[in-house]
Amino acid sequence: MNTFVNAFVSILLRTVLLAGALLASGTQAATIRLACSGVGQELQFCRDAADTWARDKGHEVQIVTVPNSASERLALYQQLLSAGSDKVDVLQIDVIWPGLLGQHLLDLRPYAKQVLAQHFPGFVANNTQQGRLVALPWFANAGLLFYRSDLLEKHAEPVPTTWQQLSRSARKIQDAERAAGQARMWGFVWQGRAYEGLSCNALEWVASHDGGTIVEPDGKVSIHNPRAAQALATAAAWVGQISPTAVLNYAEEESRGVFQAGQAVFMRSWPYAWALAQAQGSAIRGKVGVALLPRGEPGGRHAATLGGESLAVSKYSKHAAAAADLVLYMSSAPVQKDRALRGSFNPTLRALYRDAEILQANPFMGELVDSFEHAVARPTAVTGARYNQVSHAFWNAAHDVLSGRDTAPEALARLEPTLKRLSRRGKWN
Ligand code: GLC
Repeated sequence: MNTFVNAFVSILLRTVLLAGALLASGTQAATIRLACSGVGQELQFCRDAADTWARDKGHEVQIVTVPNSASERLALYQQLLSAGSDKVDVLQIDVIWPGLLGQHLLDLRPYAKQVLAQHFPGFVANNTQQGRLVALPWFANAGLLFYRSDLLEKHAEPVPTTWQQLSRSARKIQDAERAAGQARMWGFVWQGRAYEGLSCNALEWVASHDGGTIVEPDGKVSIHNPRAAQALATAAAWVGQISPTAVLNYAEEESRGVFQAGQAVFMRSWPYAWALAQAQGSAIRGKVGVALLPRGEPGGRHAATLGGESLAVSKYSKHAAAAADLVLYMSSAPVQKDRALRGSFNPTLRALYRDAEILQANPFMGELVDSFEHAVARPTAVTGARYNQVSHAFWNAAHDVLSGRDTAPEALARLEPTLKRLSRRGKWN
C-alpha cells in the first residue's frame, strides 16, 4: 500500500513539476521525434540525454531509429525531407551533409547565438550554408589506428608509422598467433563495404600516399594518378592476407566486433571504439593503444578522414522551438562531457579539450590532437550537392579494386571521366 501511495505521490509531484516547467517556458508540451544512429553506444547516449531534457522541460521525445550505415541513413533522410514530412523533428546529420540537406533544415543561428563561439570554428563553418546555420556540431571524428599493445609487445613490434610496417607486423603477429593456436586471428580490420565508410578509409590511403583528395579544392578531379593507384593496390593486397575477405562487407560495427573479440591486431576506426574496447567485460580491456594512421611511402604523410555528426531541426517540424531547445541541450557542454567520459566521443567544444577528466578517460584526445591536424576533409565544400554521387563512384571504384574485379590503374582511369561528367567540365556549383 505504502509503495502504491509513494508511487502516486511521486507521479502527482512530477506532473505538477512538469506543468510548472511548461508554464514557465510558456510553451505547450510537444512530442519531438529524434532520429539518432545506433553505432556502438550512440543510441543509448542519445536516448539518455533526450530523456533528461524531456523530463526537465515537460516534453516527450520519441527516438526514431535509423540505419547505422551513413549512406542508408542519408537515403532515408532525403526521402523524408524531400517529401516535406514532419515525421522527424531533430536529425543527427553527418559532417558531409549540410550541403546536401541544408535546404530542408531550420536556421539555428537565432537559437544558438550564445554558444556558437564555444565550438571549433571549422565545424560551425561546415554547418553554415548560405549564411544559415543548418546544424549544431555534436561530436567530431577522425580516423584512428587501434592496436593491440599486448601483442605488439609480445612480438617485439613497434607501433607502425607506415603502411608497409603495418602490413609486415600484422602478417608476422597474425601468423605467430595462429601457429600458437589462435586460429581466427587476423592482422588488420577496417571498413571495406561499398558505402560512405569505404570512401573514408580509401581517402586516408590515397591522401597518406600524397595522392590528393579525389577532387581538389579548386574543382579539379585528381584521383587518376599513380600515387592514388599505389594506395588502392596496397590496400587490395591486404584482402585475404592480413584482412579477412569478409572485410569487403564490413562497416564500423563489423570491424569492431572482430577487434573487440580479440581476433585482430590492428583496426582502423573512429574514437567511439575506444570506450567500448576499454569497457568492463571487454576481451581487450587494457590491451589497446591508439595511434595516428600510417603514412604511405615514399614521402607520404599521416592522414585521417575528418568525420563527425551534428544535430539539425527539420524545417517541416511543427515544434521548431522545442526541437531547437533539445538540440541546444544535446550539444551543450555537460552532455558533450558525459558523452566524452562514457563514450569517448570527441567534443566539438574547444574548452572540453582542457578538461582533466576527459583527457584522463581518453588519453588519445590529448596525445592525438594531431589527428585533427592531419585530418583530411572529404571534398564536400567543392562538390556541394553532388558530393554523394562523387563518393558513390569513388567507393565503387575502390571496392572493385579491393575485390579484385579491377586493377587500381584501370578503376581510376574509369573513375576519372565519371567524376568529370559529374562536375560538368570542372564547374561543380
Ligand atoms: C562516421 C563519421 C561520418 C562518416 C561515417 C562513415 O559516422 O562521423 O562522418 O561519414 O562514419 O561511415
